[in-house]
Amino acid sequence: MVEGEEQNVYKELYRPQYHFSPPQMWMNDPNGLVYHEGVYHLFYQYYPEDIVWGPMHWGHAISDDLLHWKHRPIALYPDEHGFIFSGSAVVDKNNTSGFGVDEEIPLVAIFTYHLMEGEKQGRKDFQTQGIAYSLDNGETWKKYLGNPVIGNEGIKDFRDPKVFWYEDTQSWILSLVAGDHAKFYTSKDLKNWKYLSEFGKYNGAHGGVWECPDLFPLKVEGSDEEKWVLIISINPGAPNGGSGTQYFIGDFDGTSFTSDQKEPKWLDYGTDNYAGVTYNNTPNGDRIFIGWMSNWDYARDTPTKKWRSAMTVPRKLALKKNEDDYLLTNMPVKQINGLAASTLKKDINVPPKTSDTFKIDDLNQSQIDFTTASRNFKLIFSNDLNETLTLTMDSKSKGFIIDRMYSGKIDFQSEFGNKKHFMPFERTNSKPYEVIILMDWSSIEVFLDNGTYVMTEQIFPTKPYNMLVIENLDEQATIENGHIKHLKSIW
Ligand code: FRU
Repeated sequence: MVEGEEQNVYKELYRPQYHFSPPQMWMNDPNGLVYHEGVYHLFYQYYPEDIVWGPMHWGHAISDDLLHWKHRPIALYPDEHGFIFSGSAVVDKNNTSGFGVDEEIPLVAIFTYHLMEGEKQGRKDFQTQGIAYSLDNGETWKKYLGNPVIGNEGIKDFRDPKVFWYEDTQSWILSLVAGDHAKFYTSKDLKNWKYLSEFGKYNGAHGGVWECPDLFPLKVEGSDEEKWVLIISINPGAPNGGSGTQYFIGDFDGTSFTSDQKEPKWLDYGTDNYAGVTYNNTPNGDRIFIGWMSNWDYARDTPTKKWRSAMTVPRKLALKKNEDDYLLTNMPVKQINGLAASTLKKDINVPPKTSDTFKIDDLNQSQIDFTTASRNFKLIFSNDLNETLTLTMDSKSKGFIIDRMYSGKIDFQSEFGNKKHFMPFERTNSKPYEVIILMDWSSIEVFLDNGTYVMTEQIFPTKPYNMLVIENLDEQATIENGHIKHLKSIW
């Protein structure tokens, strides 16, 4: 860090105030999400020497509440097998790996090695899987001398291992991606892996390469039924362009994941929630997800100077059953409520065919929420320069639309502000639903109807937004019980 700059850390233009971002330099995917002995670990794809992607390391931060993060030294550095690409981490409670010494439970990281020399030579086998372990709860790491633990038989995109412990067979299960599908492996000791099965060549979206798989069980809300969820990132091929996250609902029997789902389902319809995966070993079994809040279309070009990109707020996943259809929902973790320092407006009530205007300086660091059955409304955020971000609920097109075309700086890359972004919003009833909006200095996250419909997008207003107009265009439904709350900085 350059001398004299210290006081600016986390106060720079566009610096998120309650989202995780690295102190400086380039970040992409969250990695190794694991909880152990009171600590939530967040490792991440990190290039410590530039604000564009480069030789990948695993950066590291820790938290005891998933909100306030402490930066830790870099956990994994590239070595003779290559850069350290995305992967996961597990708590090896039974010391199956034998890495544990003196009762110390090992944390084991499982990641992809990317050998640049191999790629440059035009070979196909340059991605392999390696492991490393820590005996001091993630502070320091040793690579396994027998790496790689899964070699490559000639698959160009072969990466992003996510591992979990499967009680039924008392073994580890690993998912990774191989171009256009996922593959599953099993192991008793995290070192020797046996191939099990594959999934997905003919399921879901295939507009681009599959990345960052995550397989886990979830109980259907309000019942004892359990289903398995497979999350798959895809780039390009997302509904609003570039990178996005699809999921499959199905079953897993210890060998194969099966699903009769042919069409993709999307965890988030916004442009900026990619490579997200979930925590292993959470204290009460909650399924907590964090995504990278960017898109490979323009990730390298966003207008920040000292660091690049942030993570989504941590979100709790749940499974809902609608007639015969299963839906994965995602909502900010409850801890976010604790950031609400003051309520700037309450009892917001906008009757049909009326609008209301709120002048508030702190809009870029706020939560806006209300309840409504309205299928026709607009929220227009603006600043003194007339930059506007418009959110529209539109019954005619049966959708929710984010328009960031005039939201501020957009000209750093042609894909960023070239069109409106659409999310289908279908409802079979006219019951009120909840709208929650989290706005930070360079992002907006919208959660509708308990996280059934979600959009996450980056924004770069030149000056902070200080006005919000709520227009209720509906003939019948009121927008009610609304609040605007200021959220405290976590830094
Ligand atoms: C996803 C990804 C992963 C890969 C990593 C490299 O954004 O492309 O597939 O492991 O980033 O940084």
